[in-house]
Amino acid sequence: MCGLKKLHMMNVVNLIAELENVHDYWSPRIVGRVNDQYIKVSKLKGQLVWHKHDNEDELFYVLKGSLAIEYEDGKAELNEGDFHVVPKGKMHNPVAEEECWIALIETVTTAHTGDVMTDKTKTVKQQFGTT
Ligand code: NI
Repeated sequence: MCGLKKLHMMNVVNLIAELENVHDYWSPRIVGRVNDQYIKVSKLKGQLVWHKHDNEDELFYVLKGSLAIEYEDGKAELNEGDFHVVPKGKMHNPVAEEECWIALIETVTTAHTGDVMTDKTKTVKQQFGTT
């Protein structure tokens, strides 16, 4: 099913059920939209890449497992049920030692890996999914 179909009125979305259909790490799936923010889910393991988003804050919410957001001057450690907002313009790198399931709230203009491109980087089109 196309992700766009899930944005219809009266649609109920279960974040855990959405994640059960995600099989790749670091491949965010867009599951909803609130005004100019996308709601996304993602499975993480290992690390993404150091990057920043000059114009957007980025919210990470841990559904299962634990996650560290590394900064140049420290890190935020998140456990199940915790959320954290990465401030715009701040260099960060998400790291999950074990598999971690998260939800994200990101402005629609937010690039997956911010100011850098890597082989992990996903476009917004890819984040809508095709299956
Ligand atoms: Ni980021």
